[in-house]
Amino acid sequence: MQVNLENFKEIRTPIYVLEESRLRQNLSLIKSVADRADMEIILAFKAYALWKTFPIFREYISSTTASSLSEAKLAFEKFGSPAHTFSPAYTDDEIDEIARCSSHLTFNSLSQYERFHERVATVNPSIKLGLRVNPEYSEVETLLYNPCAPGSRFGVTADKLPEILPSDIEGFHCHCHCESGADVFERTLVYIEEKFGKWFSQLKWINFGGGHLMTRKDYDVLHLINIIKEFHLRYPHLHVIMEPGSAFGWQTGPLVSQVVDVVEDHGYKTAILDVSFTCHMPDCLEMPYHPAVRNAETIEMEDMMEKPEGDHVYRLGGNSCLSGDFMGYWKFDHELEVGEKVIFEDMLHYTTVKTNTFNGITHPSIGIVHLDGNLEILREYGYEDYLNRMD
Ligand SMILES: Cc1ncc(COP(=O)(O)O)c(C=O)c1O
Repeated sequence: MQVNLENFKEIRTPIYVLEESRLRQNLSLIKSVADRADMEIILAFKAYALWKTFPIFREYISSTTASSLSEAKLAFEKFGSPAHTFSPAYTDDEIDEIARCSSHLTFNSLSQYERFHERVATVNPSIKLGLRVNPEYSEVETLLYNPCAPGSRFGVTADKLPEILPSDIEGFHCHCHCESGADVFERTLVYIEEKFGKWFSQLKWINFGGGHLMTRKDYDVLHLINIIKEFHLRYPHLHVIMEPGSAFGWQTGPLVSQVVDVVEDHGYKTAILDVSFTCHMPDCLEMPYHPAVRNAETIEMEDMMEKPEGDHVYRLGGNSCLSGDFMGYWKFDHELEVGEKVIFEDMLHYTTVKTNTFNGITHPSIGIVHLDGNLEILREYGYEDYLNRMD
């Protein structure tokens, strides 16, 4: 079926629509950064794991990063290469299989290292071991996404590292960013080098984590490339890795929904949709952030109980029973009617990996619009999916 990407007129909702052309644009930019900066950029599954699209990814990148047994298996079985794995806490039950599916395995603490390093090497003698370090500096302001805030459970701080690292530790892993620019990375790198530079001569690789949003329009790609080139000059022996997630799925397609009802209470007008914020766009409530809706103006209000002025201003409401499953406000240029499409922009990262079937409400289908304009449905959901989760 041919799809009109402007209005998705004929499409059956609800559906996440991945646009292959936009995905390829991101992938080729990421590949060119990796080539020009002489580093490895790998996909973080936590942001995006639509495995039926992995053959497209394989044309541009060769590895992925996992943070659980299931993600490591997905890397091994579906992406076709072992994962760079980091988990805050490996367990006896899962560590062997994780080791089998991983090329790199990073420990979050020295105690996890002590407990598992020999076992991991026995299972997979070629595995490369690393340690997550915490530079105690991050410019991420939202506490929910700041891995370096005081009390963080992530990584070893410099004061706790021995002068001589265990001989089988060959890499450091450091994740401090979230949708950040190259300037933030530059400032953070100063702290990383100040705190951990003295151990670099004992290492073979360094992974600068995710949160590098290099596919955002205003991201200074050249600056990032120069930062890494200069880093190579200072530490020519270190292989550099980055593992963004959002950057791959950034602006690659919308979640298309439709208006099911319009209700009004005390002058607050809400268009109820066939999608849910809490089930299908959870970061909107968690982060929180106000998603863009096509052909509507986003109106930010400090206080949600304050009503914005003007006509055609709506809250958009989810179809779950959670009272807070709504967001506001958006201004449209007409009265919303039952059956019309409401298109949430940029809904391909941190959605399909996080959705749930709370209330048993129907999960949106997942589709991809190929380069020839044809829509392929990758997955539809029904009662069986709800049932089987609790089987
Ligand atoms: C360890 C680690 N690596 C990579 C990522 C991916 O980050 P992003 O999707 O913001 O690029 C995250 C995100 O939380 C992370 O915790």
